[in-house]
Amino acid sequence: MSRIAYVNGRYLPFREAKIHVEDRGYQFADGVYEVCEVRGGKPVDERRHLARLERSLGELRIALPMPLTALDVVLREVVARNRIGYGMVYLQITRGVARRDHAFPVPTPAPAVVVTARGLNSGRNEALAAKGIAVISVPDNRWGRVDIKTIGLLPNVLARQAAVEQGARDAWFVDRDGAVTEGASTNAWIVTGEGTVVTRPADHAILRGITRTVLFDVIKARGLVVEERAFTLQEAYTAREAFVTAATQIVVPVVRIDGRPVGDGRPGPVATALRADFHRHAERT
Ligand code: PDD
Repeated sequence: MSRIAYVNGRYLPFREAKIHVEDRGYQFADGVYEVCEVRGGKPVDERRHLARLERSLGELRIALPMPLTALDVVLREVVARNRIGYGMVYLQITRGVARRDHAFPVPTPAPAVVVTARGLNSGRNEALAAKGIAVISVPDNRWGRVDIKTIGLLPNVLARQAAVEQGARDAWFVDRDGAVTEGASTNAWIVTGEGTVVTRPADHAILRGITRTVLFDVIKARGLVVEERAFTLQEAYTAREAFVTAATQIVVPVVRIDGRPVGDGRPGPVATALRADFHRHAERT
């Protein structure tokens, strides 16, 4: 079965799904995106993802190309047409097509909208979570507005590649004060010796992950204490547990940071429990 993509109003086989050479996403990374997990053929926490999309567009002054209710229909249609039971749906909106010039084009072009979906291997993801992952630390050299979910991901690409080359799965960005900001495509968490779950406050230095937001409910329902504060790499090295969150991975234990074992070097009980509880708190409509 050929994969189907939505491109500017049409559902097309992949080989016909094309974007203009002067799309500003292609030339300037002038656009935003969202990724939702799909379970049981339905997007997870879609309402929150679309709310964040609307905020990202607003920050870049790109008009919402259609009402969120219409985007919802498109997302579901792409999931259905690709027969995705478990997987992910990707949505990208750029400022549109215009002759190359850095300033916003006048007149304003129609934003370009692309939606794709693909299946994920749940067995592989579960095995990864059961084993835990290794992360490396890298200096956070990104711009000052990573709270906007833009498609400008070059530092994240290079960080992930550095991780892969060192046999690790993710890279944790570290700011000038030695504090961890977030992962290359995940939010970063630790569990202290006292059992407090810690993650960095969602200011302009991290993306306010949807998985992160839902996880606060999961943590509270478990009766655990959660603290939103910056934590240093040194603190992470000696934490009892560490883990990452993202829509396509949910909660994945981190068992090594820069080659040092976290806790006893195996997935911890807090991360494992939060992963198990997650979908009881996430929305699937
Ligand atoms: N990444 N931080 C960064 C830099 C991210 O790219 C992501 C998500 C997150 C977690 O956000 P959420 O819980 O809403 O998925 C945090 C997506 C999955 C990606 O780029 O593929």
